[in-house]
Amino acid sequence: MGGTNPYIQQSEAQPATRKFTITFLPMNKTVEVDPEKIPYGVTGLPGSILDIALAHGIDVDHSCGGVCACSTCHCIVRAGGRTLSEMTDAEDEELSFAPGLSPDSRLSCQSVPNGEQDLVIEIPAWNRNAVREGH
Ligand code: FES
Repeated sequence: MGGTNPYIQQSEAQPATRKFTITFLPMNKTVEVDPEKIPYGVTGLPGSILDIALAHGIDVDHSCGGVCACSTCHCIVRAGGRTLSEMTDAEDEELSFAPGLSPDSRLSCQSVPNGEQDLVIEIPAWNRNAVREGH
């Protein structure tokens, strides 16, 4: 499932225009992001952490299909957070329902890196069992 949520203010995030990497924890898997391939799929904002994760076999939970209507795609940004798109009020509100919140929490479907720095993203322990490496 993918698309946009017509009931919220849409993010003005712009996908990256240069190559960068994201290291996903705790599996410690580093993926290279190629701007030429964005959007990788149809789930989450184009070039979002969720879009990138799913394309690389990292099955982050995304119950609402990446339209900012749940909090299952919660992630914690361990490095590179300043390169992410600004949090919208809608993301802030949905994120408030996620268990295990930290000051560095974001919704992966709404967070779009601009590629100026490599990132380290942790999938929280509470949904870690749902994360598997495919392919
Ligand atoms: S997948 Fe539902 S808010 Fe991100």
